[in-house]
Amino acid sequence: MYSRISQLVCFVLLVGVSVFAAPAKKNIQFKACRRSDPLFLQCFKNELQAVIPLLNDGYPKYRLPPLDPFDLPALDIAKGSGAVSVDLSLQKLKIYGLSSARLESLSLDIDNLKSNAKFTFAKPITLIGQYTAKGKVQVLPINGKGPCNITMVDPTLELTNIEGSLVERNNQKYIDLKSVTLKATKMSKLVLKLDNLFQGNKEVSDNLNVFLNENWELLFEELRPAFEEAVAVILKEVASKVLQKIPKDEIFPQ
Ligand SMILES: *[C@@H]1O[C@H](CO)[C@@H](O)[C@H](O)[C@H]1NC(C)=O
Repeated sequence: MYSRISQLVCFVLLVGVSVFAAPAKKNIQFKACRRSDPLFLQCFKNELQAVIPLLNDGYPKYRLPPLDPFDLPALDIAKGSGAVSVDLSLQKLKIYGLSSARLESLSLDIDNLKSNAKFTFAKPITLIGQYTAKGKVQVLPINGKGPCNITMVDPTLELTNIEGSLVERNNQKYIDLKSVTLKATKMSKLVLKLDNLFQGNKEVSDNLNVFLNENWELLFEELRPAFEEAVAVILKEVASKVLQKIPKDEIFPQ
């Protein structure tokens, strides 16, 4: 199962942001926090938070793609059972709102290369693109395809199990990311607009959209594990690219 969705953006942020602990030139200023600083963690957290809004256009030097909107070619969320069982495949997504991320908490164990982080978002996270959906809602078969707008209001995303190991290249030590676990722990609302959800019948499509929006919590519970897994994969890919570019001692100077 290889799926992707919206909240992943946060993670990208996190990872990208951590990378920026390296002294960045050009337009992005990042004060490197020293590990010997007794207030290191607070310093690092502040710097990460400060750099997030600056990443809208990405940072090619570290292979960091534009963050807001974030382009995602595909995100597949497969789900096979339950009252709402839908295989949702999203294509050509633009994800808006990621740069409004707020780093609520951060833990960092540099010696063991472990980290946890929690993000909330000041703005809704909106996924605009194309979708295909197959499955059923209650007893009604779904086979839809068209433009979509999936908006998450007040999401909280937690990265619970960021783990790396050290690899050496050219006499430099780099962080190799081993795992990233993502949990979407809160949301105040999920707003869906899936055009043409019941092909050829606009009235049924509209009614289904109303139903899904009224039952968004049920829908999200069903799709959540696949969504979290997919986003974690994407996040890990993006972060790994950045971490391959910057030696550990530049990210975390003594
Ligand atoms: C997507 O849906 C949200 C929530 O309904 C809405 O606020 C936003 O304007 C929509 N965006 C687009 C591009 O249609």
